[in-house]
Amino acid sequence: MPSPGSLEIIAALDRLAGALGEEIRPLETEQEIRAAQARYLGKKGRASDLMKALGRLPPEERPAVGEAANRAKAAIESLIAARLTALSQAALAADLARTVDVTLPGRGSGMGTLHPLTLVRREVEEIFLGLGFEVRTGPWIETEWHNFDALNTPADHPARDMQDTFFVEGGRILRSHTSPVQVRTMLAGPPPIKIIAPGNVFRRDDDATHTPMFPQIEGLYVDRDVSFADLKGTLLHFVRRFFGPDLSIRLRPSFFPFTEPSAEVDAGCYLCGGIGRRGDVACRLCKGSGWIEIGGSGMVHPNVFRAVGYDPESVRGFAFGMGLSRMAMLKYGVDDLRAFYENDIRFLSQFL
Ligand code: DAH
Repeated sequence: MPSPGSLEIIAALDRLAGALGEEIRPLETEQEIRAAQARYLGKKGRASDLMKALGRLPPEERPAVGEAANRAKAAIESLIAARLTALSQAALAADLARTVDVTLPGRGSGMGTLHPLTLVRREVEEIFLGLGFEVRTGPWIETEWHNFDALNTPADHPARDMQDTFFVEGGRILRSHTSPVQVRTMLAGPPPIKIIAPGNVFRRDDDATHTPMFPQIEGLYVDRDVSFADLKGTLLHFVRRFFGPDLSIRLRPSFFPFTEPSAEVDAGCYLCGGIGRRGDVACRLCKGSGWIEIGGSGMVHPNVFRAVGYDPESVRGFAFGMGLSRMAMLKYGVDDLRAFYENDIRFLSQFL
């Protein structure tokens, strides 16, 4: 007669599969079902727990308990296998039940687009290339000499203040304008020189109309006989090509250290055609003035020629600088400059 101990173990082993069956019925993932299996058949599972008592049983009773353990193991494994098969069949059936219309057009990944500032830069470059200008670039990290001194901007000039300029290690600065490319180009060779220099510049500014980095485009034309009339004609041509064929320009006397005389450049407002009104109301773009400011300009100062080793008695030139982001705002009717730098796809995709 087997002892009560072994009968109890055999009964407990025989109940295992039933208990597992209850436990896995509500489970819906393979992971959960495998975890349940481990709770029963794993090293620290319920079956191993029961088998620990095996050693204390008389040897002749052990085979019967061993048999019960094998029975429990086989029953649990077949329950698990059946449950997993049912699960994958249900998933397959759900897949097949989904209607697939193979005649639908594909889901394309969408066209990319150039950034609006790139579009504007290219358009501006195109116009000046048509007038015989070449495109030059210069470094963003500049020496103070190229950015200021050579441009007739002395050490005590307010533009050099820490407030306005980013100083970097090694005594260099982030260039505060594209004008140092004038200096670099003239240092690199003799006149005639006819270049534009687009590129990013940096200032300590940050609001709806100023960002700490923004793109400018510089222009420089130096030859034996370049006149203020050439400057005016060049700017007029540019404005008519870029903003509209019937617009005029206005040059307002101004001051820049590197030009003399200097002028602020206004373009006729393209929104109201330069009349300042739209119907009965003042034009919102030019605030009723009929003009919008696009940059600075002037005749190259003799001290700039001296700094690059040109003879100011035998060459003359004009220069100008314009803000490309400002032109993009005007052209596309964007009223917050920061939109250009936020990389919001809803904004950028409007330029497709
Ligand atoms: N560098 C000036 C600025 O960033 C703009 C400028 C004005 C450039 C007059 C010029 C110029 O070449 O002639 O404010």
